[in-house]
Amino acid sequence: MPGAPIGVFDSGVGGLTVVRELLWRLPHESLLYLADTAHVPYGPRDPDELRGFALGITQWLAEQGCKLVVMACNTSSALALDAARRLVDVPVLGVIEGGVRGAAAVVRDGAVAVLATAATVRSFAYPTALRALRPGLEVHQAACPDFVPLVEAGRLGTPDAYSAVCDYLDQLPLADLDALVLGCTHYPFLAPGIRMKAAEHTHLVDPAVETAKAVKRLLAERGLAGSGPARHRLVATGSTESVERIKATCFGGSLPRPERVEPLTWPACEAR
Ligand code: DGL
Repeated sequence: MPGAPIGVFDSGVGGLTVVRELLWRLPHESLLYLADTAHVPYGPRDPDELRGFALGITQWLAEQGCKLVVMACNTSSALALDAARRLVDVPVLGVIEGGVRGAAAVVRDGAVAVLATAATVRSFAYPTALRALRPGLEVHQAACPDFVPLVEAGRLGTPDAYSAVCDYLDQLPLADLDALVLGCTHYPFLAPGIRMKAAEHTHLVDPAVETAKAVKRLLAERGLAGSGPARHRLVATGSTESVERIKATCFGGSLPRPERVEPLTWPACEAR
């Protein structure tokens, strides 16, 4: 079991921001990453459909022998984490807890804003968890539907990307923010533009950092830590193009070429 891979998934390339943290912090662990590119973007979809995708993928990763599943997707974590934990015998971690912990560590007497998909914003998962930890905290949310298509298309440092960043961040009281949570795993790829637009004193919180620390702790606690050599695998349920592009620009030779697998879904009636 310690030599088994960690399963990681997202709708597309966003979860690779979590993979990046895992590669840094856990260099001896093998990773099996699934990009559900047949269904990207998740943000505008119906919650039941999204739960079906998350459970189908979690089940598949467990069947592949993964010792742990990381939902490297805020939308799936907001809607399907509890159901996924009931479905499989291996531990399942989401990313929202990491985002909340990261924000709570830097917030003083100011507010927090969460940038996320429309589905995550509608779930209120972040404001609920943040206020459970810090009652009375001022929390703002902004849905950013243009970000995921920009990142999937590899248009990261473009004028379009910066103008989308400005459109969404202008809705927020930027001067009042102690923390700005990148509440979708695609968004850290746009962090340079978000950093330019945010106030200087505002901390950008990438949930991947605390999530990777939580993975490390959990593996150690359960005696599941691997000792290498790490062997990684990337799979995509639809086009592999976006994964290949990001892999080439951000990961070089540290990840293999993505392979195609069939789209994985779980019957909607069982997803509840
Ligand atoms: N990267 C995912 C998230 O963290 C999903 C984005 C999408 O496909 O809309 O929410």
